[in-house]
Amino acid sequence: MTPEISLTQSPSHLRHGSSIGQPLTRRDGVLKVKGEARYAADNHPPGMLYAVLAVSSIARGRVTFLDVQTARSHPGVVDVMTSTNKPPLAEDPDAKTNPFMFRLDLLQNDLVRYANQPIAVVIARTLEAATEGAALLSPHYETQPARVGLDASESFVPAAVGVGNPSEVRRGDVEAGLAAASKRIDATYETSIQYHNAIEPHAIVAAWDGDALSIDTPSQGLAMAQGRIAGLFGISPEKIHIRSPFLGGGFGSKGLISGPQILGIMAARLVGQPVKLVLRREQMYGPVGHRASTRQRIRIGADVDGSLTAIDHHAKTASSSFDDFFEPAADASHTLYASPAIATSHEAVRTDTGTPLFMRAPGEATGSIALESAIDEAASACGMDPLAFRIRNYAEVEPISGKSFSSKALRECYAQGADRFGWSRRPLAPRQVRDDAGLLVGWGMGTATFPALMFQAEARAVVRSDGSGLMETGAHDMGQGAWTAFAQIAADGLGLDLEQTEFRAGTSDLPDAGIAGGSAHTATAGMAIHNAGAAVIAKLADLATGDERSPLFGAGNAGVIAHSGRLFRRDDEMRSESYADILGRAGLAQIEARGKGAADPAAQSTYAMHAHGAVFAEVKVDPDLGQIRVTRLVGAFAAGRVINPRLVRSQIFGGMIWGMSFALHEQAVMDHRSGRTLNANLAEYHFPVNADVPSLEALMIEEHDLHVNALGIKGVGEIGITGSAGAVANAVWHATGIRVRRFPIRIEDLL
Ligand code: MOS
Repeated sequence: MTPEISLTQSPSHLRHGSSIGQPLTRRDGVLKVKGEARYAADNHPPGMLYAVLAVSSIARGRVTFLDVQTARSHPGVVDVMTSTNKPPLAEDPDAKTNPFMFRLDLLQNDLVRYANQPIAVVIARTLEAATEGAALLSPHYETQPARVGLDASESFVPAAVGVGNPSEVRRGDVEAGLAAASKRIDATYETSIQYHNAIEPHAIVAAWDGDALSIDTPSQGLAMAQGRIAGLFGISPEKIHIRSPFLGGGFGSKGLISGPQILGIMAARLVGQPVKLVLRREQMYGPVGHRASTRQRIRIGADVDGSLTAIDHHAKTASSSFDDFFEPAADASHTLYASPAIATSHEAVRTDTGTPLFMRAPGEATGSIALESAIDEAASACGMDPLAFRIRNYAEVEPISGKSFSSKALRECYAQGADRFGWSRRPLAPRQVRDDAGLLVGWGMGTATFPALMFQAEARAVVRSDGSGLMETGAHDMGQGAWTAFAQIAADGLGLDLEQTEFRAGTSDLPDAGIAGGSAHTATAGMAIHNAGAAVIAKLADLATGDERSPLFGAGNAGVIAHSGRLFRRDDEMRSESYADILGRAGLAQIEARGKGAADPAAQSTYAMHAHGAVFAEVKVDPDLGQIRVTRLVGAFAAGRVINPRLVRSQIFGGMIWGMSFALHEQAVMDHRSGRTLNANLAEYHFPVNADVPSLEALMIEEHDLHVNALGIKGVGEIGITGSAGAVANAVWHATGIRVRRFPIRIEDLL
């Protein structure tokens, strides 16, 4: 089969002479292909030593003995850091003063709370010696039975889910809606623990100089990392310099600085030399977060014409024994389908794992596969086509809040996606179609949605007397193309061609770009860049329009526009002046200004803001062997303004592939006796490879949103994973007639 990759993008997004909207290739692409992009672990400051974590092989109990003496006697080992000799910390790693402060394991005592928890750090002159030293520690434990899985302990209602969302939300009378329904669905879906598994493991190179700290480490949020380190070591944030230009993937696990990264800094302090610490792959299965497992009961009522009368979505989820991140899975039912009654609620259990964390569409992804399966079941119960059923229950306003949408082109996503896929030829009943080889063919669909969020960011813009521009913000490229998209926004904001625009990012001394998460980075840091550009142009305009020697004299600040490195009179574009001339006459080497990006609270309280999409999947299932192959995925997405269609396509593809993986591949298999992950490696933790993704298409549907922010950006990072997982699962049902409600779907489920 010929791989087919395409993207349609309305040409009206491409404004003439504008960088925004251009399908540019990545500015960092060549560096990466040549191996010249420097990742954290590529750094080797002079005198650097190697640190290796020793981690717990039990999931619960205490460490009773470590053979530190033998490890120390290894000729390459410099020191062994344990709970007894670690450098003092200014803050308790178990303290939690805000929801973004996760409890860390920094050798504060001998307790073991999960498998792969750090219990010592061995520092040596070589990686090999540090690795051997860690093996020589031969820990003894006092072991308690591990609590594993969703029935491990008594359940309770968490005070909040996600980061501060209410645990229970209701609108209307769900029980009355269910009682009045002519068709009812009551089904329970299970999702598995997943790990972020970024190709670049968490890594740090830390060097102290007195009380100043310099670190190379991947981070999705430099200022937050700086703040946490400052608190733990009792130094001011300005003393901490972080370099994080590139991340080899983050997916949420690098959103908050992790315990192992802090241990690298502690190790450097202990030995008084720079230290490098890189997690081994299996060490990523514990201290750096994961997607929690869920069990979700969904009850749906519908009346004779297929209109929903009630949705009740209840999610049970697991968190760690010592911290409070709860996967907000049921919240997925707030947004998509109109229903007079909606209730969502959560319960949780304590298990002996590392604390779960946000992982690509946290809550939206887990909730989406359950909700989209349940909606498919409801459509089938009503004898309706799944697309027709979704359109029957199209939400004209946000169901849970009653707010208008700031924009919503989901109808167009349904129409264009269905058309492209050929959905109208789908037989209603399952198990109707076979291909020439006798494989069962099934078609399924799912709706995608993700909120259009914004956090806070700042940028600094400079225009120089040579006419060039500079834009700075402490953002980072974790593979998503931020370096390129931000440079495009910067060029337009500065009224310059891209070639005249320098864009600097990736270090903590630059203005805070906020967190690269929540699919909000392009909107948030992008608006900071846009506003910084506008502010510096306003200063240039003040210089020119107030000076009678300028052809722009008297035009007023609002009477000029900037492009191509010049200011033009709006009322007479023949009259213009270059930035270089304006600054030269004023005798200035450069002019600068700052700008901020943040959500508009008034717009947010008025409108519901979400990106949407529709995903269509084709699978083929071997009727004898149960083997499932996805043969086609078509997605149509509306997410406001597209800054760079090529990068957006990649983001959406990544999400769609992850959605497929959610449905069919990914699962951390827990050993219920030991509390350890059995497949803590890239060989046995199943990911899709190219052969699993023969044909992918992403259509971007034009959408102009006037309310989300001035640029109209909604964000595309996470939406691709929602909808896609359910589409694949529903296609498996359509192929086989077998409804699997435990994910990932396995061969044995179909036999
Ligand atoms: Mo994320 S889970 O990196 O928004």
